Amino acid sequence: MLSFTVSAPGKIILHGEHAVVYGKPALATSLNLRTTIHLSGNDGSIFILCLPSIDINKAWEVTDLELLYSTIQEGNGSIPSSPDTATLSRLRQFTDAEDGNAKDLAIIVFLYLHSQIIGSRGSLAALRVVVGSDLPVGAGLGSSAAYSVSLAAVLLVLAGQIRQIPNSWTREELGLVNSWAFEAERIIHGNPSGVDNAVSTYGGLILYRKGEALKPARGNSLQVVIVNSHVPRSTKRLVEKVKERLDKYPEIIRPMLESMEALVVKALDTMQGFENSDANVCYDILEELIDINQSQLNVLGVGHLSLEHICLLCQQNDFHCKLTGAGGGGCAFVLIRPDASKEKVKTLIKSIEEAGYMSWLTSIGGSGVTLHESMPLSS
Ligand code: PMV
Repeated sequence: MLSFTVSAPGKIILHGEHAVVYGKPALATSLNLRTTIHLSGNDGSIFILCLPSIDINKAWEVTDLELLYSTIQEGNGSIPSSPDTATLSRLRQFTDAEDGNAKDLAIIVFLYLHSQIIGSRGSLAALRVVVGSDLPVGAGLGSSAAYSVSLAAVLLVLAGQIRQIPNSWTREELGLVNSWAFEAERIIHGNPSGVDNAVSTYGGLILYRKGEALKPARGNSLQVVIVNSHVPRSTKRLVEKVKERLDKYPEIIRPMLESMEALVVKALDTMQGFENSDANVCYDILEELIDINQSQLNVLGVGHLSLEHICLLCQQNDFHCKLTGAGGGGCAFVLIRPDASKEKVKTLIKSIEEAGYMSWLTSIGGSGVTLHESMPLSS
């Protein structure tokens, strides 16, 4: 019976968040925390979509989906397109969606991509689609992009638009996955930059500048601890806050943005220079850049007491930490040097978790979207 699994990574912004809004470069990288989608044929006439991590467990009659899809725009899997207004409102009506509700958006994105990639006319196969994820939702780690990318890939394989051969996707096939995932991200976020889905599709390190093609960058894979402050934040509000500060103190804030650009260039140079330099010196520089960037972000006004607390806990344990993404809560990352003993890392994680934060020890710069022979789902 038809059965396969695809996974895609989340992301962190290493440096350059907020400055990127003003045309400066940002350095983003894939995370070894992934979303996994397992697709299999389902006996009978029921179509199942499960996302246990956000409590979605849907079962539809295949004939109901066929009827729904016959009333929305006709799709073509090889030509990524945005939903027209009527299609979006029909899907919202079908799912009883509430504005901005993450669960509803996940279902709408599923129905939209399924209808467009598999075809919105004719008979559909009953399927079982189960989504597992290591990524927290809404914490700035790219969970929606990892979902959009793995979903696009699973459906494109099913439609025969990309090949079902592990580790063999061409740049062109990945481009198709990325473009469909971007359409999904637009449904979820309105006007995203596209950096999250690109990192999740291609993996590795990416230098991103608004309005320019993404530049894949070579760089050493690093170990990090990701820390979730559990403080909810709105990226939109934090971006507005920086704008207010920039408008109020342009002579003070503009040079800070220039300085953040220089920091991104230095960080990238350092990450690319590992082969020809002393690794200890490179790690010393990366740690200092983390401290400097964290202070710069505080100057922009996007810090938070919880993030300061996390940085302090790291400092007490001789590690370096900065916020990642919008700030104001959300997540931070801690750089783990390869010479840090297991005991020392354990002590750090213990102190972070005892303070009520959640943490993951993981690596960055891993592979992008991947088709697996057979693989157990993440929880
Ligand atoms: O909240 P995140 O992780 O999606 O990151 C937002 C990054 C910003 O630079 C603050 C905003 C943006 O659009 O780039």
